[in-house]
Amino acid sequence: MTRHLVTAHGIRHLLLAGRRGAAAPGAEQLGAELRELGARVTIAACDVADRGALAGLLADVPEEHPLGAVVHAAGVLDDGVISSLTPERIATVLRPKADAAVNLDRLTRHLDLSAFVLFSSAAATFGGPGQGNYAAANAFLEALAHRRRAEGRPAVAIGWGMWAERSEMSARLDEADLRRMDRGGIGALPTEAALALLDRCLAQDRVAPLPVSLDVAAIRKRRPEVPALLRGLAGRPARRTAAPAAGSGAGAESSTARSLAALPQTERDAAVLDLVRTEIATVLGHTSAGRVDARRAFGDLGLDSLTSLELRNALGRRTGLRLPATLAFDHPTPSAVASYLLEELLETGRTSAASGPDRTAAGEPIAIVAMGCRFPGGVRTPDQFWEFLASGGDAIGEFPDDRGWDTEALYDPDPEHEGTTYTRKGGFLTGVDRFDAGFFGVSPREALAMDPQQRILLEVRGLIMLPSRREDSSW
Ligand SMILES: NC(=O)c1ccc[n+]([C@@H]2O[C@H](COP(=O)([O-])OP(=O)(O)OC[C@H]3O[C@@H](n4cnc5c(N)ncnc54)[C@H](OP(=O)(O)O)[C@@H]3O)[C@@H](O)[C@H]2O)c1
Repeated sequence: MTRHLVTAHGIRHLLLAGRRGAAAPGAEQLGAELRELGARVTIAACDVADRGALAGLLADVPEEHPLGAVVHAAGVLDDGVISSLTPERIATVLRPKADAAVNLDRLTRHLDLSAFVLFSSAAATFGGPGQGNYAAANAFLEALAHRRRAEGRPAVAIGWGMWAERSEMSARLDEADLRRMDRGGIGALPTEAALALLDRCLAQDRVAPLPVSLDVAAIRKRRPEVPALLRGLAGRPARRTAAPAAGSGAGAESSTARSLAALPQTERDAAVLDLVRTEIATVLGHTSAGRVDARRAFGDLGLDSLTSLELRNALGRRTGLRLPATLAFDHPTPSAVASYLLEELLETGRTSAASGPDRTAAGEPIAIVAMGCRFPGGVRTPDQFWEFLASGGDAIGEFPDDRGWDTEALYDPDPEHEGTTYTRKGGFLTGVDRFDAGFFGVSPREALAMDPQQRILLEVRGLIMLPSRREDSSW
């Protein structure tokens, strides 16, 4: 990146700061290379998160070449599942990102900077397995960039996706991490492409651009696993059928349980174990489930805390069961997990069989079975209502004479007169005197005493249940 700043942006004076300064691996060599390209380079040992140290460093910037722009690319990683992120581990990651950015912001306010570039990460937007602290630290950088912009100061926080070329930070990523990213549809940026994107980010006016290499095919393939924000790219999930072989998400629980219950007892163990081994193979990047020894401990198979959680999530999606985060810890081999799942699924099968058909299995939270209505204008069915609207019907008419109202006494043209109405028109239901008390099993006297709305509700419900009654003019 520094080479690019010199060759493509014509930067001639560079102050490179890191805690180790020239002692960092490759630093001297980089300095020499940049000098050969015509730049004057100072490599300084400075902890940018230390306000005093940074102030000292900035005070030494020669007056004839004042600081013109800031690129904040410091960072360290300390990945771990949320429960393992102690305050110290969070501070380790926040310090070089957030504290350093605040120091740079505060200590350069008096300067006329042309750019204030913060290296953030796509993790701030999408999250990242085991990167709760890192995502927060980078989100802070993006918020700071927004605030600086609001203050009229230059700022851009670039939410980098993974660069293909390894750095000290990314060298810590292992095969499992890279496979996880691939499955999530986020690929690595070749250096050339990343530098071209850097130029675009600097040229554009966006505060927090996201230069990320997206593999839309992978996103489509692994839909449930991709970050929520990318699901729009993944397209709609295939419509669930009544009884999938293995489930996927809500509704999967009972369907997987049903499929299992339909198998002979002797085949159930093998079916669940196969499911578990298949998911372990996917998480570990094996080409087939056959490579997963069912009796080996997860640690020996290569699962760590993150991949264990990934396995828990995948099995949760496949079975629809809510599985504990400690699944692989409590049941430390594939066969132990399979036994646990089998027990849970069969229990689910028994419960759902006892409680009748699963109404959510069709994937519809609400099923409209029938509709009924009564509206002014003589409308008694949804079809009539639709026709009425389509034909531009008018439901406003004279006061009805079937309510026993004294319509003359009701009317007074003075709007201020209490107890009367100054209009002779309104929207009224028709046939309200035709309530069939006998049909609903109430006496005529009781029907008269009922709230009129309750009578109408009974009639509407009756019409839904007995459509033939619609032809009966008594309602
Ligand atoms: N590489 C990627 O794929 C990628 C993706 C997304 C975002 N990023 C972001 O891009 C930036 C550069 O990352 P990189 O991959 O190039 O990692 P890197 O080579 O490890 O660079 C990080 C640098 O930060 C310096 N540093 C750490 N703490 C510091 C502190 N307190 N004060 C001053 N310097 C400090 C380190 O030097 P010392 O140890 O000597 O201090 C190191 O030179 C990071 O902010 C990272 O979050 C990188």
